[in-house]
Amino acid sequence: MKKQWELCEKLSETHDLNEEELLSLLTGRTPETDEYLRERACEECLAHYGDQVFLRGLIEFTNFCKNDCLYCGIRKGNSSIKRYRLTEGEILSCGEYGYELGFRTFVLQGGEDPYFSDDRLCRIVSSLKSRFPECAVTLSVGERTKESYQKLFQAGADRYLLRHETADCAHYRRLHPPEMSFENRMECLRNLREIGFQTGCGFMVGSPFQTPEALVKDLRFLKAFQPHMVGIGPFLPHKDTPFRDFPKGSGELTVFLLSVIRLLLPRVLLPATTALATLLPEGRELGILHGANVVMPNLSPDDAKENYTLYDHKLSSGQEAAQGLIELKESLQKIGRTATGMRGDSLMDL
Ligand code: 5AD
Repeated sequence: MKKQWELCEKLSETHDLNEEELLSLLTGRTPETDEYLRERACEECLAHYGDQVFLRGLIEFTNFCKNDCLYCGIRKGNSSIKRYRLTEGEILSCGEYGYELGFRTFVLQGGEDPYFSDDRLCRIVSSLKSRFPECAVTLSVGERTKESYQKLFQAGADRYLLRHETADCAHYRRLHPPEMSFENRMECLRNLREIGFQTGCGFMVGSPFQTPEALVKDLRFLKAFQPHMVGIGPFLPHKDTPFRDFPKGSGELTVFLLSVIRLLLPRVLLPATTALATLLPEGRELGILHGANVVMPNLSPDDAKENYTLYDHKLSSGQEAAQGLIELKESLQKIGRTATGMRGDSLMDL
């Protein structure tokens, strides 16, 4: 018990714990120490970013995917979903709509869809950047070659999100088909960072076969890699995937990990994810109250949203949608935060 408090204090003061200490932290939790870390995490977030919560306009522009990740609802092996791609014009309209609403970051997210060649994607990025020069463009389109990342960066993309999914190599193999590799994933992340993208990684909480030791590796990886952004959310099963019968990840563990990540990386950008909001009522607010400072409402057209089904019951309306922006702002106001569309670049490099 005493040891748990010492670990919490050490994490809050030094922003670091070794593997063994992290494992004790994760396995010796109590409601009191969880609450202590939550409060320290919020203080840390407020000290660096103030009361602002950054809004990102999410554009889910294709649900075609060449990969067959065992957890994901848009895996290529799922023949039950309706596949769609937005045209360049539709993507720009989403941008237009988002810009009017005050968004100054657009996140283009999609499956790994070969239709979006370097040329096509670069064109879309350049069009967005020339139409909205003061906006940041974030890409989240999976694994590509270093040359491809380079071209996208030159076309004007500012940021890139690529969750590492798990920092445990053996665990990675159990979540992915044999043609995907942990080494390539990590190589992609290193390339993105080297090229100059503000880079985001992250993982699912409670994915099948995840152990506390694997989570410790995730946390140590984050500390070593020093990403600009970290996306985490609970694993949620999808009925048309091999993982349909596995239990959901825990919301409580997810928010606890948000606090731990905020304390390990005080200046990181940390979203309260849609998966968390889908799992828990007021999940978004809870995430913010555990140290998160980003939310990503969806700007995609309704029929696109309906088919971008990474997991069952994925929220796409209400405050998850841009239409619910006023409501979202009010609910953040109620917990003492101010939503802002401003670019909100990461402070990691400062
Ligand atoms: N549950 C929760 N998160 C998921 N993702 C994909 N499938 C699921 C699922 N079933 C996450 C992955 C991916 C991100 C876009 O969504 O971490 O990187």
